[in-house]
Formats: sequence, C-alpha cells, structure tokens
Amino acid sequence: MTPDEFRKHAHELVEWMASYMENVEDYPVKSSVEPGAIFNKIPDSPPEQSESFDSLMKDFDQIMMPGITHWQNPNFFAYFPANTSPPSILAEMLIATLGSQCMIWETSPAAAELEEKMMIWLRDMIGLPSEFEGVIQDSASTATLAAILTAREKISNFSINNEGAEHAGTLKIYCSGQTHSSVEKAVKISGIGRKNLVKIPVKEDFSMDPVKLKEAIIRDKKKGEIPCCVVATLGTTGTTAIDPLRAIGEICLKYGIWLHVDAAMAGTALILPEFQWMLDGREYIDSFVFNPHKWMFTNFDCTAYFVKDAGLLIKTFEILPEYLKTRTRGKVNDYRDWGVPLGRRFRALKLWSVIRSYGTEGLRTKVREHIRIAACLSEMIIKESDFEILAPVVISVVCFRYNPAGCNEDQINALNEKLNHKLNDSGKLYLSHTILNNKYTLRMVTAQTNVTLEHIEKAWGLIKKTARSLKR
Ligand SMILES: Cc1ncc(COP(=O)(O)O)c(C=O)c1O
Repeated sequence: MTPDEFRKHAHELVEWMASYMENVEDYPVKSSVEPGAIFNKIPDSPPEQSESFDSLMKDFDQIMMPGITHWQNPNFFAYFPANTSPPSILAEMLIATLGSQCMIWETSPAAAELEEKMMIWLRDMIGLPSEFEGVIQDSASTATLAAILTAREKISNFSINNEGAEHAGTLKIYCSGQTHSSVEKAVKISGIGRKNLVKIPVKEDFSMDPVKLKEAIIRDKKKGEIPCCVVATLGTTGTTAIDPLRAIGEICLKYGIWLHVDAAMAGTALILPEFQWMLDGREYIDSFVFNPHKWMFTNFDCTAYFVKDAGLLIKTFEILPEYLKTRTRGKVNDYRDWGVPLGRRFRALKLWSVIRSYGTEGLRTKVREHIRIAACLSEMIIKESDFEILAPVVISVVCFRYNPAGCNEDQINALNEKLNHKLNDSGKLYLSHTILNNKYTLRMVTAQTNVTLEHIEKAWGLIKKTARSLKR
C-alpha cells in the first residue's frame, strides 16, 4: 500500500469510525450469530495474491459486523464496561502509527517517561499514598498475577524464583467467595496451587468478613502453613461489594501478610472525594490494581498497577540478557522488569489524551452521573412490587430480579433466566447475571461511556414489559 493509498483509505476509515460512533445505538447490542457462522465464511486458506483494502472493508461490513457485540452501545449494561471515548481512539491511532515497542526506556524514552508521569497523575487522582509507584499492565488478571508472585517471593525470601517451590512450605492466599476468578487463576499458575486458595465467607452485603479471615489465618498457622497474601476487592464483579480495607489491613500487618487490592472497576470511583471512604486503610496496602479500560473511557487494554515497594516487584521479574543491557540502566524505569511481558505498547498515550481531554473535573462529572443513574434505576425497581433489589447499590451496578407472587424459588430462577435471554436476544439491550444466595440475579451496569437516564428509563420499561409477558 503506497502512502497515497494509505491516506485515501485512512480518510475513508475515519468517516466509517465517526458514523459508527454516531449510529452505534442502531446496531443490535448483542450479536445473534450462531457458533461457527463467521468462521465458515472465512476462506480456509489465505490469498496467494494481494487483495484490495476495499474488498477487505466490504467483507468487514458484511461478515464481521454481524458477529460484533456492540460494547459502545449505551444499551450495553452487561458485565463491566470496556469503554472507549473519542480522545482514547485518536490516541490509539497515533500508537498504531508509531508502532513503538516500549520494552525499555531506550526503545522509546517518551513512552517510559509519559507512563511514569501518568501513573503519578492516576495515583494522585485516586488518592493512593505518594510512595506508591505504578506501571501499566494489559489486564487486571496480569497485575494480580504479578502481585501474587511478588508476595510469594517476598515471603520466601526470593528463594522460589531461584530454587523452585520444593522447600518453601505451603503458602496460603485468601480472598472472599465473591472475588474475581483472576485470583484463582493466578494462584493456580503461580505454583502455589488452587487448593491453597482460601475463600473467606462474606457478610450480608457480600463484603469479606474480616473476623472469618482472621480465624482462617490462625487455623492455617496452627497447621504450619504460611499465610502469604490477602486479596481484598473494592467493587466485586457480582455486586460491587467493598471489602473493609482497614480491618483486613490490620490483620495483614499483624501476621506479616501481603495485601493486594483489586479495584478493577470501582477504582475509577475513587476520583470522587465522596468515594474516598473505600480507601480507608490505604496505609496497609502493598499493591493495588484498577482498570482505566473499564470505567475511565480508555480503550482496552489499559490497567494501572501500583506497588508500595517497586524494588520487590522488579526483583521478582527482572532478568537481564546481554542484548537488553543499556547505559541508562538504573537511572530510568525499564518497564520490562515490572511484569511478565518483555514487549510493551505505548499505552500511556491513551491516558494522556483521555485525562487532558476530559480534565479531572470532566471525568468526575461523568462518573458521578453514572452513579446517579444507578441510584435512579434502583428507585424505579423498588417502586414495583413484583421486582426486588438483591444487593446494596454502591456505585453503578444494580442487582435485581423479577419476583412475581405465587412462584417458588425454582420457578423464579427459571423465569429470570428466561427473561435475561429474551431481553438479550431482542438486541435492544444487554444484561448479564450472577447467582446471589442461590437466586438467579440480573445485573444492570449503568457505566457505558454515553449512557443517560433516558436509556435506563427505556430499558427499564422493556424489562418490566418483557418480564410480565413471560409470567402470563
Ligand atoms: C473485580 C475484577 N477483577 C479483575 C477482573 C479481570 O479484569 P481483566 O479483564 O482486566 O483481567 C475483573 C473483570 O471484570 C473484575 O471484575
């Protein structure tokens, strides 16, 4: 492709992008293709000869678009969001064009230094103590793996990295029954072993019970096992419950245990002074992760991972082959030493563009509005006698179910499952679900970049109508 051809296609693509963004609400939110439908439309072997970009775009429109679930549609209320925003998309264009591989400072000093500064901005925006240093990771799962590996190395005096786990004893990791599965994955692949993950019971509001945590630690110590790390969550995946950091932190300090905090979604709410209470006990935290790629309008992937002692993180991951030795080593941040991958994208540019474009006040306004409309939705639900709220509404997630009179628990569960599928198959909105106290629970997340109260009101009208038509 010549530069002129590139220019022509790029201009056309920008038109495509802008009109997609303008019309995203016209697409069915959830793709309804059957498994294999897209795969079978793609030729079994690659073309021998060059094809035009126009023919690629034609196939993109005809084959790919029907198989896309539109996460940027404001009627996307499922999971947690993976928000974009125009300034983030523009930065992605620059990142793709530069194509820099930012593994060490020397391979793109601007990327390393912007990353360092963006992590300071974010740290201060969310209210972490000033000794914390940050690094951008691809995902919260990777950051949590990094935390558990660092905790493992610290408690074993870095012997497992060198000698293997044979003589390290039985390490124990603690989290609540509501913690995201990325913790179980990290424990499984870190060599600690899934059976050594202790799931602590939760209280009525689905937050970790610190009394039960302490009991479990004492029990394990009596058996000669080694408590290594507690993962506390701010904003659990199911209900956005907030684990009590101060109470958990005091226990971690007493028993010399690493405290990792997973705030993947709710971390963004910390930019609001009125949500700083979630971080009470911050002085006990060893590592902390949140995802600007969820609720801070920054394209996937962009995870902010903060550590109190960067030296421990670097010592866990550092490896220095000859070809990566530089004259600047020790004077700058070589982020390849701060996590699993060697190669790294220039992700800090997205954050720079988003934060400068919205301003911190603009970000606060948007996040506050999402929280306000979640509260409005919960009021709408409470008013209807045949619906019920199933968990406290803390930020922008509302958990509820249809509960018409005259049905037993099994029937109510079946009804809500059917309701979820019927709504999602309509293409008009997309909800996801969880199970709370054996109840099939619908989750509605009011945090898509462009969602408004009008979207919520319309969706709620459809949910009520569809639910009542199922009962009849
Ligand atoms: C609380 C929590 N932690 C971690 C994750 C994993 O996030 P990622 O996709 O960035 O690995 C999720 C995903 O939704 C989550 O809800």
